This record gives sequence, structure tokens and C-alpha cells, in this order.
Amino acid sequence: MDFAERYGPWALIAGASEGTGRAFARKVAKQGLNCILIARREGPLVTLAEEVRAQYGVECITASVDLAANDAVDRLIDIAGAREVGLLITNAGADPNGTRFLDGEIGNWIDLVNLNVMNTMRSCHHFGGRMRARRRGGIILVGSGACYGGMGGIAVYCGSKAFDLCFGEGLWTELRPHGVDVLNLILGRTDTPAFRALLQSKGLPVPSGLASPDDVAEVGLARLPHGPVHNWGQDEDMSGYAPNSAAARRARILALDAASKDVMGGK
Ligand SMILES: NC(=O)c1ccc[n+]([C@@H]2O[C@H](COP(=O)([O-])OP(=O)(O)OC[C@H]3O[C@@H](n4cnc5c(N)ncnc54)[C@H](OP(=O)(O)O)[C@@H]3O)[C@@H](O)[C@H]2O)c1
Repeated sequence: MDFAERYGPWALIAGASEGTGRAFARKVAKQGLNCILIARREGPLVTLAEEVRAQYGVECITASVDLAANDAVDRLIDIAGAREVGLLITNAGADPNGTRFLDGEIGNWIDLVNLNVMNTMRSCHHFGGRMRARRRGGIILVGSGACYGGMGGIAVYCGSKAFDLCFGEGLWTELRPHGVDVLNLILGRTDTPAFRALLQSKGLPVPSGLASPDDVAEVGLARLPHGPVHNWGQDEDMSGYAPNSAAARRARILALDAASKDVMGGK
């Protein structure tokens, strides 16, 4: 199957108005997928939709949704309607707070957990269920190296991304027999407007060596069939900032899956 057969006909990109989400949208449209573009700001989504329609001849719809809201996934389900979403990319998910846990409002932390945990899980439940029934599709959970350990200043972010990592690994084992690919795309520092805005709010200079959103999207799509993890900038067998390489994590998950069949029952 080519890319469009395997992951089409529609991609839903959560957090598509700029940065890596916008880069994903351009790349999947180039591969012939129609796009559902979601973010809070409608303006940049509309501009992007016009661009990809004109450039790649695909269909594209947009909607302003706050993905931290309790009804966000109900809204996504309504917006998608009868369209077959074969590719789900949960890209929105940075921590805009820039404060230590006790110095931030609890409502802001709950929003971040809603965004990265509750609504990511709900989206995967709905769209992943339909992919499993069709026996094809892909899910990219855009993660962060923060998933590998707690850090001061981003404690809730670390916890929420750790959830996504373990959740995505488990989902990978459950969906792979059904032809559905799951990838935790674990990013390092990336040159997005959100990251630049956070640095600016703290009066910090932009560091060198940031990944480009285009490269991240390119590699993420290429690695999608090779989950459950890709650590940005690392070959399969390197450990780097992650405690285990992607290859070691895959081997461990497969071994655990095989060893736990007696207590987990059939698939
Ligand atoms: N940039 C980095 O250095 C870095 C490093 C590691 C991991 N990551 C991961 O990469 C992903 C993208 O990060 P980013 O730096 O581009 O920042 P981001 O804040 O996650 O922004 C990405 C997109 O998400 C949308 N978005 C954010 N919050 C939203 C919400 N509540 N509801 C709907 N849409 C929302 C933004 O558009 P609107 O503002 O229009 O809603 C934007 O289009 C995140 O998952 C992040 O954790 C980034």
C-alpha cells in the first residue's frame, strides 16, 4: 500500500496552525491526504487550508477547537463526521506556562492534562477504533524528551508526556496486529513559534541547534511504520537522552507482551 492507501483518505492534525503541526499538514497533503486542521486560531488554519488545496488539490477543512476543553473530542468527532480519518496526529501539547508547579494556577495544569492526557486518549479511542475496524491507519503522538524524567519547571508537562509514551507503546502492541501503526515521536528542542514565544517570555535567547519543523514532520511520517518510539536525532541503537534506545524499548515491549499473554488473555 502506498502512503495515501495506508493512511488516507483523511488526516486529522490536532495543533496545525503553526510549527510542526503545519509542517505535518503540508507533508500529508503532498502525499494526497485530505486534511482536517484543528487549533484555536482559525485565521492561520484557513490560510494553510487555502495553500494546501491550491498546491496539492486535496480537500481541507478547518475548525477552531480548544483541545483542552472537556467537549473537545466530541467536537472533533462532529467535525470529522462520516469522513474516514486514517491518520491522527496529536501535535498540540507544549507547556505554555513557564512556571513551577505551585506557582501556577491549578486550572492551567488541569488544562495541560486535559490536552495531553484525557483528550489525546479520547481521540485515540474514537479514531483508533475506526482504524482498527478498517484494518489500516496510523497515529502519531508528538511527544517530548521530557517524558523520560521529571524536571523542575515543567513537572506536569513531564508527567503528561510520560503518560503519552507508555500509552502509545501499549497501543502500538494492541493495534499492530490490526494493521494500524502507532508512533511516539519524541522531540527535542524544535524551532516552533510556541517555543520561541516561551523563550522570549523568559528573556532567554534562542539556542542554536534547534530541529526544524519540516525535518521533524518528514522524519515522523517516515518512522510511522517503525514504532512504537522514535527519539528525535537518534538512531535506533543509540540511547542518548532516553534511558533506552527505540530498538531496546521495542524489544522490551514485545517481550513483555509475549510474556504476559497468560494473564492478559487474547487480543
Ligand atoms: N518546540 C519544542 O522545542 C518541542 C520540544 C519537545 C516537544 N515538543 C512537542 O511538539 C509539539 C508541538 O509543540 P510547539 O512548540 O509547536 O507548541 P504547541 O503549543 O504545542 O503548539 C502547536 C500547535 O498546537 C496548537 N495548540 C496549542 N494548544 C492548543 C489547544 N489548547 N487547543 C488547540 N490547539 C492548540 C497551536 O495553535 P493555536 O495556538 O492556534 O491553538 C499550534 O498550532 C507539542 O506536543 C510539544 O510538546 C516541542
